[in-house]
Amino acid sequence: MNLIVAVDKNWAIGKDNRLLVQIPADMKSFRKQTVGKVIVMGRRTLESFPGGVPLRDRQNIVLTKQEKYQGKGALMVHSLEALLEELKKYPSEDIYVIGGDSVYKQLLSYCDTAYVTKIDFAYEADAYFPNLDALPEWEITEESEEQTYFDLEYYFLKYEKKSVREKTADF
Ligand SMILES: NC(=O)c1ccc[n+]([C@@H]2O[C@H](COP(=O)([O-])OP(=O)(O)OC[C@H]3O[C@@H](n4cnc5c(N)ncnc54)[C@H](OP(=O)(O)O)[C@@H]3O)[C@@H](O)[C@H]2O)c1
Repeated sequence: MNLIVAVDKNWAIGKDNRLLVQIPADMKSFRKQTVGKVIVMGRRTLESFPGGVPLRDRQNIVLTKQEKYQGKGALMVHSLEALLEELKKYPSEDIYVIGGDSVYKQLLSYCDTAYVTKIDFAYEADAYFPNLDALPEWEITEESEEQTYFDLEYYFLKYEKKSVREKTADF
Protein backbone atom coordinates (compact mmCIF):
# COMPACT_ATOMS: atom_id res chain seq x y z
CA MET A 1 0.00 0.00 0.00
CA ASN A 2 1.23 3.52 -0.82
CA LEU A 3 0.75 6.89 0.73
CA ILE A 4 1.18 10.30 -0.79
CA VAL A 5 1.66 13.52 1.15
CA ALA A 6 3.06 17.04 0.93
CA VAL A 7 4.94 18.14 4.05
CA ASP A 8 6.82 21.23 5.14
CA LYS A 9 10.26 21.18 6.79
CA ASN A 10 8.62 20.21 10.14
CA TRP A 11 6.41 17.52 8.56
CA ALA A 12 3.37 19.79 8.87
CA ILE A 13 0.57 19.05 6.38
CA GLY A 14 -2.33 21.41 7.03
CA LYS A 15 -4.01 24.20 8.91
CA ASP A 16 -7.73 24.84 9.49
CA ASN A 17 -8.56 21.81 7.31
CA ARG A 18 -6.66 23.23 4.36
CA LEU A 19 -3.37 22.46 2.70
CA LEU A 20 -0.45 24.70 3.70
CA VAL A 21 0.25 25.68 0.10
CA GLN A 22 -0.91 24.57 -3.34
CA ILE A 23 1.93 24.03 -5.77
CA PRO A 24 0.54 23.40 -9.28
CA ALA A 25 3.32 20.97 -10.29
CA ASP A 26 2.73 19.00 -7.07
CA MET A 27 -1.02 18.84 -7.75
CA LYS A 28 -0.25 17.59 -11.25
CA SER A 29 2.10 14.95 -9.90
CA PHE A 30 -0.53 13.86 -7.34
CA ARG A 31 -3.10 13.50 -10.09
CA LYS A 32 -0.73 11.55 -12.33
CA GLN A 33 0.18 9.19 -9.50
CA THR A 34 -3.39 8.51 -8.32
CA VAL A 35 -5.61 8.56 -11.43
CA GLY A 36 -7.13 5.12 -12.04
CA LYS A 37 -6.17 4.05 -8.52
CA VAL A 38 -7.91 3.66 -5.17
CA ILE A 39 -7.55 6.64 -2.82
CA VAL A 40 -8.25 6.38 0.90
CA MET A 41 -8.99 9.44 3.02
CA GLY A 42 -10.69 10.74 6.14
CA ARG A 43 -14.00 12.62 6.06
CA ARG A 44 -12.30 15.94 6.82
CA THR A 45 -9.97 15.58 3.83
CA LEU A 46 -12.95 14.86 1.55
CA GLU A 47 -14.57 18.05 2.87
CA SER A 48 -11.38 20.02 2.16
CA PHE A 49 -11.74 19.39 -1.60
CA PRO A 50 -13.44 22.06 -3.73
CA GLY A 51 -17.19 21.50 -3.28
CA GLY A 52 -16.48 18.63 -0.85
CA VAL A 53 -16.80 16.16 -3.72
CA PRO A 54 -14.69 13.04 -4.43
CA LEU A 55 -11.72 13.25 -6.81
CA ARG A 56 -12.61 12.30 -10.36
CA ASP A 57 -11.29 9.19 -12.17
CA ARG A 58 -10.33 7.44 -8.92
CA GLN A 59 -12.10 5.05 -6.56
CA ASN A 60 -12.56 7.25 -3.50
CA ILE A 61 -12.89 5.47 -0.14
CA VAL A 62 -13.68 7.69 2.85
CA LEU A 63 -13.53 6.88 6.56
CA THR A 64 -16.24 8.31 8.82
CA LYS A 65 -17.95 7.09 11.95
CA GLN A 66 -21.18 8.78 10.78
CA GLU A 67 -23.34 5.96 9.39
CA LYS A 68 -25.61 8.32 7.43
CA TYR A 69 -22.88 10.52 5.93
CA GLN A 70 -23.45 11.13 2.20
CA GLY A 71 -20.13 10.95 0.40
CA LYS A 72 -21.44 12.25 -2.94
CA GLY A 73 -20.33 9.13 -4.81
CA ALA A 74 -17.42 8.08 -2.59
CA LEU A 75 -17.55 4.70 -0.90
CA MET A 76 -17.97 5.30 2.83
CA VAL A 77 -16.49 2.96 5.44
CA HIS A 78 -17.07 3.28 9.16
CA SER A 79 -14.11 1.66 10.87
CA LEU A 80 -10.49 0.74 10.27
CA GLU A 81 -11.48 -2.94 10.25
CA ALA A 82 -14.15 -2.33 7.57
CA LEU A 83 -11.62 -0.34 5.52
CA LEU A 84 -9.00 -3.09 5.65
CA GLU A 85 -11.65 -5.65 4.62
CA GLU A 86 -12.69 -3.45 1.66
CA LEU A 87 -9.07 -2.92 0.59
CA LYS A 88 -8.56 -6.69 0.20
CA LYS A 89 -10.48 -6.31 -3.09
CA TYR A 90 -7.66 -4.30 -4.68
CA PRO A 91 -3.98 -4.93 -5.45
CA SER A 92 -1.97 -3.34 -2.67
CA GLU A 93 0.15 -1.36 -5.17
CA ASP A 94 -3.00 0.36 -6.50
CA ILE A 95 -3.99 1.78 -3.11
CA TYR A 96 -2.94 5.30 -2.08
CA VAL A 97 -3.60 6.75 1.36
CA ILE A 98 -4.08 10.49 0.79
CA GLY A 99 -4.71 11.84 4.30
CA GLY A 100 -5.29 13.56 6.49
CA ASP A 101 -3.35 13.56 9.74
CA SER A 102 -5.50 10.95 11.57
CA VAL A 103 -5.74 8.59 8.60
CA TYR A 104 -2.02 8.72 7.78
CA LYS A 105 -1.24 7.85 11.41
CA GLN A 106 -3.63 4.87 11.44
CA LEU A 107 -2.46 3.48 8.10
CA LEU A 108 1.27 4.21 8.07
CA SER A 109 2.13 0.75 9.41
CA TYR A 110 0.19 -0.87 6.52
CA CYS A 111 2.10 1.14 3.87
CA ASP A 112 5.41 0.18 2.30
CA THR A 113 5.94 3.14 -0.04
CA ALA A 114 5.54 6.86 0.66
CA TYR A 115 5.60 9.59 -1.99
CA VAL A 116 6.56 12.72 -0.09
CA THR A 117 6.71 16.23 -1.49
CA LYS A 118 9.06 17.99 0.93
CA ILE A 119 8.70 21.76 0.98
CA ASP A 120 11.63 23.68 2.43
CA PHE A 121 9.62 26.14 4.50
CA ALA A 122 8.09 26.16 8.01
CA TYR A 123 4.37 27.02 7.98
CA GLU A 124 1.99 27.61 10.86
CA ALA A 125 0.07 24.36 11.10
CA ASP A 126 -2.27 22.16 13.12
CA ALA A 127 -1.96 18.87 11.22
CA TYR A 128 1.21 16.78 10.92
CA PHE A 129 2.63 13.66 9.32
CA PRO A 130 5.04 11.38 11.22
CA ASN A 131 8.71 12.28 10.62
CA LEU A 132 9.84 9.41 8.40
CA ASP A 133 13.50 10.44 8.80
CA ALA A 134 13.20 9.55 12.50
CA LEU A 135 11.72 6.10 11.82
CA PRO A 136 14.51 3.60 11.18
CA GLU A 137 12.34 1.29 9.06
CA TRP A 138 11.88 3.98 6.38
CA GLU A 139 14.57 5.07 3.91
CA ILE A 140 14.70 7.48 0.98
CA THR A 141 15.10 5.48 -2.25
CA GLU A 142 14.51 8.26 -4.80
CA GLU A 143 15.05 12.01 -4.63
CA SER A 144 14.31 14.58 -7.33
CA GLU A 145 16.39 17.57 -8.21
CA GLU A 146 15.46 20.74 -6.38
CA GLN A 147 12.13 22.12 -7.66
CA THR A 148 11.01 25.72 -7.33
CA TYR A 149 7.69 27.53 -7.18
CA PHE A 150 8.25 31.29 -6.88
CA ASP A 151 10.65 31.50 -3.90
CA LEU A 152 9.73 28.06 -2.49
CA GLU A 153 12.10 25.14 -2.87
CA TYR A 154 10.75 21.60 -2.72
CA TYR A 155 11.68 18.02 -3.60
CA PHE A 156 9.83 14.88 -4.65
CA LEU A 157 11.03 12.04 -2.41
CA LYS A 158 10.20 8.38 -2.44
CA TYR A 159 10.53 6.52 0.88
CA GLU A 160 10.34 2.77 1.15
CA LYS A 161 10.06 0.53 4.15
CA LYS A 162 13.12 -1.63 4.50
CA SER A 163 12.16 -5.22 3.83
CA VAL A 164 12.23 -7.85 6.56
CA ARG A 165 14.91 -9.66 4.57
CA GLU A 166 17.17 -6.60 4.57
CA LYS A 167 16.67 -6.11 8.31
CA THR A 168 17.53 -9.70 9.20
CA ALA A 169 20.57 -9.66 6.90
CA ASP A 170 22.23 -7.01 9.09
CA PHE A 171 23.93 -9.50 11.45
N1 LIG B 1 -0.42 17.90 2.89
C1 LIG B 1 -1.09 16.86 2.48
O1 LIG B 1 -0.60 16.09 1.65
C2 LIG B 1 -2.46 16.59 3.04
C3 LIG B 1 -3.24 15.56 2.53
C4 LIG B 1 -4.51 15.34 3.08
C5 LIG B 1 -4.96 16.15 4.10
N2 LIG B 1 -4.17 17.15 4.55
C6 LIG B 1 -4.60 18.02 5.64
O2 LIG B 1 -4.86 17.22 6.81
C7 LIG B 1 -5.83 17.92 7.60
C8 LIG B 1 -6.97 16.98 7.92
O3 LIG B 1 -6.53 15.91 8.76
P1 LIG B 1 -7.48 15.40 9.96
O4 LIG B 1 -6.73 14.40 10.76
O5 LIG B 1 -8.06 16.60 10.66
O6 LIG B 1 -8.71 14.75 9.18
P2 LIG B 1 -8.88 13.42 8.28
O7 LIG B 1 -7.89 12.38 8.70
O8 LIG B 1 -8.92 13.80 6.84
O9 LIG B 1 -10.36 13.00 8.67
C9 LIG B 1 -10.67 12.69 10.01
C10 LIG B 1 -12.02 12.03 10.06
O10 LIG B 1 -11.96 10.75 9.40
C11 LIG B 1 -12.83 9.86 10.07
N3 LIG B 1 -12.05 8.75 10.61
C12 LIG B 1 -10.72 8.71 10.88
N4 LIG B 1 -10.37 7.49 11.35
C13 LIG B 1 -11.51 6.75 11.39
C14 LIG B 1 -11.80 5.42 11.79
N5 LIG B 1 -10.85 4.57 12.22
N6 LIG B 1 -13.09 4.98 11.70
C15 LIG B 1 -14.06 5.81 11.23
N7 LIG B 1 -13.84 7.09 10.84
C16 LIG B 1 -12.59 7.55 10.93
C17 LIG B 1 -13.53 10.65 11.16
O11 LIG B 1 -14.67 11.19 10.53
P3 LIG B 1 -16.05 11.53 11.35
O12 LIG B 1 -15.69 12.67 12.25
O13 LIG B 1 -17.00 11.88 10.26
O14 LIG B 1 -16.41 10.27 12.10
C18 LIG B 1 -12.52 11.74 11.46
O15 LIG B 1 -13.07 12.89 12.06
C19 LIG B 1 -6.27 19.12 6.77
O16 LIG B 1 -5.55 20.26 7.16
C20 LIG B 1 -5.90 18.73 5.36
O17 LIG B 1 -5.70 19.84 4.52
C21 LIG B 1 -2.93 17.39 4.05
